[in-house]
Amino acid sequence: MADLDQTLSVALKGYAWLPDLRRRAGGGPVRTRVMGRPAVGICGPAAARFFYGAGNLERHGALPELVVQTLFGRGAVHTLDGAAHRHRKALFTSLLLDGDGVDRLAELAGQEFDLAARRWRGGPPVRLFDESARIIAAAVARWVGVPPEDLAVDALARDCVAMVDGFATVGPRSARALAARRLQERKLTKIIARVRAEAPTRSPLSVVAHHRDENGLLDPRTAAVELLNIIRPTIAVAWFVAFAAHAMDMWPRHQARLRADDDAFALAFTHEVRRFYPFAPFLGGRAVRDSFFEGEPIKAGTLVLLDVYGQNHDPRLWTDPYRFDPERFLDREIGEFDLIPQGGGDPRTGHRCPGEQITVAVLGTLVRRLAGLDHYLPPQRTRIDLSRIPARPRDRIVLVVPEQEPSAPVRASRSLATGGS
Ligand code: HEM
Repeated sequence: MADLDQTLSVALKGYAWLPDLRRRAGGGPVRTRVMGRPAVGICGPAAARFFYGAGNLERHGALPELVVQTLFGRGAVHTLDGAAHRHRKALFTSLLLDGDGVDRLAELAGQEFDLAARRWRGGPPVRLFDESARIIAAAVARWVGVPPEDLAVDALARDCVAMVDGFATVGPRSARALAARRLQERKLTKIIARVRAEAPTRSPLSVVAHHRDENGLLDPRTAAVELLNIIRPTIAVAWFVAFAAHAMDMWPRHQARLRADDDAFALAFTHEVRRFYPFAPFLGGRAVRDSFFEGEPIKAGTLVLLDVYGQNHDPRLWTDPYRFDPERFLDREIGEFDLIPQGGGDPRTGHRCPGEQITVAVLGTLVRRLAGLDHYLPPQRTRIDLSRIPARPRDRIVLVVPEQEPSAPVRASRSLATGGS
């Protein structure tokens, strides 16, 4: 099995591919081949520590071309190493980890949800996944500072969803992703060029437009790529909103607790949604030098795959991992390398997602709003197919909000305190 190229298996088995391969090999590092290259799959906090360890791996040349062309964009921060990565990453950490940006964005998302919920009341069924993408698109575009005359929220939401939905497959979904990226990059490149001619402000749009790497200003298209690397993944939080609605439907007792004034539980719920439900299947880096991990020799050039989905369901880390149980996070200190739906390690120095706090804050805000909204899910297909990457509930969560307002006002207008893992 180890001799066969596993690219097709990834496409067929989706999230189960690497966990299955590791299980069959006894649980430790497993050798395989992906895209014609030797690869080794690893999992667990020690594996994450190795994956993010300084000087062990590089991203350059490790990411499949299709993923770069659909999801991240050419020249994106995800693909950089060393000093180039450090300079570019500083742009993201200044915007996403410092200051009050996170709370402001969560507040805007809450406002947009309230506007949408008013529209939904007494109307036909809506698809929560699509609606959430539009709600978040409107919020993040306002937050970034996209000029109102350039704002086309529906197209932005649709294109960003397409880029995420099409990153792991060839065929119509990836064709849509490529077209969506071309369109949005072209549009944002023009906006960047225009903003550059104006005096700098503190808006994220202006900060990206005027950002300087080690070689000076970014070319306008690369700046547009990085602006999209803020807008697109924020809109992708819609995946987690749909999963959260799925969880509330499956285990309704959580909804009552989310309605209550219980910040700790709401935060625990968002962590459990990010742990339990599938999103990023695994991460890849290329070994820079010959080394060992858990006794396994890893030669320079080997593709190292960190099993994200496997680690988030590893019984050595999580008791009863296939049980959806937000309470597991109530009394748990989250280590840098254990909960890794958005990568591990230090987001300021390594490749860990700098948008984790935004994800937690926006998701928490929308989840509380949703829990406070009197709605029901009519009969529909809620099954989540784990062979599809990225997975999502089959009918994208259809919901109905009846005409009648609830008798007691719903208190769900707060943004969740920040504090990502
Ligand atoms: C939908 C929720 C999200 C998920 C599941 C997610 C997941 C991830 C993952 C798995 C990585 C790769 C880590 C690595 O390569 O080691 C990553 C990187 C990144 N994410 Fe997120 N992310 C999300 C939301 C966000 C948000 C809201 C933003 C920005 C506002 C963002 C911006 C980025 C950037 C810029 C990187 C590249 C970091 C680097 O290479 O240094 N993400 N994300």
